[in-house]
Amino acid sequence: MKNIVLIPGDGIGKEITKAVTDILDASGANLHWIECKAGESAYKETGNPLPEETIEAIKKHRIVLKGPLTTPVGAGFRSINVALRQKFNLYSNIRPAKSLPNIESPFRAVDIVLFRENTQGLYFGKEHWVDGDTKNHAESIAVVTRDASEKIITAAFEYAKKNKRKKVTLVHKANILKLTTGLFLDIGKEIAENYPEIEFQDLIVDNMAMQMVLRPQQFDVIVTTNLFGDILSDLASGLVGGLGVTGAANIGDDAAMFEAVHGSAPDIAGKGLANPTALLFSALMMLEYLNQYRTAEKIRSAVYTVLQDHKEDCTKDIGGQGTTESYSEAICKLLIN
Ligand code: NAI
Ligand code: MG
Repeated sequence: MKNIVLIPGDGIGKEITKAVTDILDASGANLHWIECKAGESAYKETGNPLPEETIEAIKKHRIVLKGPLTTPVGAGFRSINVALRQKFNLYSNIRPAKSLPNIESPFRAVDIVLFRENTQGLYFGKEHWVDGDTKNHAESIAVVTRDASEKIITAAFEYAKKNKRKKVTLVHKANILKLTTGLFLDIGKEIAENYPEIEFQDLIVDNMAMQMVLRPQQFDVIVTTNLFGDILSDLASGLVGGLGVTGAANIGDDAAMFEAVHGSAPDIAGKGLANPTALLFSALMMLEYLNQYRTAEKIRSAVYTVLQDHKEDCTKDIGGQGTTESYSEAICKLLIN
């Protein structure tokens, strides 16, 4: 039995982690959940948004399934999501966005896997007031290193090779941010030479945003720096039905954390409206990471059947009439029978 650190998190976190652990348990996946606290709820309860016991549990078990964590806007504690990614050097943030059956969308046949550098860029956390207490002049520093760039770009190419993907698009802003994203682009060009069988393309981020909306089918694997990856992955979610249906993985050399692209959605928390598919797809990436491919496939196929044949049980964000619970029950029923 594999030990998994489970962090339910904030907002809709409790509802969706319950749905997902119910589904994984019903599928026969061989997992043991070790529940830990983090985020705003942990801060309110213990005074610490990232308690020492949670860090110790991750150090010991190395695999985390995490619900979303609220980060106060402006002042307050720094993002615990970013802190966890940095602390355990989870440099690869992998965010697939694939069209699903029976979900209304103006876009068809989208199948994108976005690799976002997860530890540096403008999210490094180097911000300060230039003018001290007057607070009228702020500065933020973006960090890009060869080592981290090589790791994420190589991860994207290796994924493309393993999964028989045809093209890698590197997204940057090297015309303006010549040193930071320029370095990222140069390293991409160097690494691309080791993969002659994979087409390599680079695009400037503003053009990329337009191209993804105009003709998303032209993209296959995408690799980019932290901030651009954050924004473009929400855009990619929007192409396939929204934030309720896109999972993600944060992977390092010796630890991995699986979480959805979306946040804690305070606007719908506690109302049974949250779609657990996003966290469920993250959990399927976890099962694949654990080489439990068959179980992952069994669950994916149950999700597709529910979307296709039991739409009324699905949550409202994807056109259903049900709740988080009715949707997860419909999936569990298929898995048990
Ligand atoms: P959000 O992703 O929580 O919500 C954006 C919109 O998508 C909302 O309208 C929400 O109702 C909807 N939505 C999100 N997940 C959904 C789901 N599973 N089913 C149905 N609808 C869903 O982004 P927002 O509102 O900007 O951020 C809220 C909080 O989450 C903030 O404190 C932010 O810092 C945090 N956050 C945490 C992340 C993480 O834990 N990895 C990622 C992104 C944001
Ligand atoms: Mg985001």
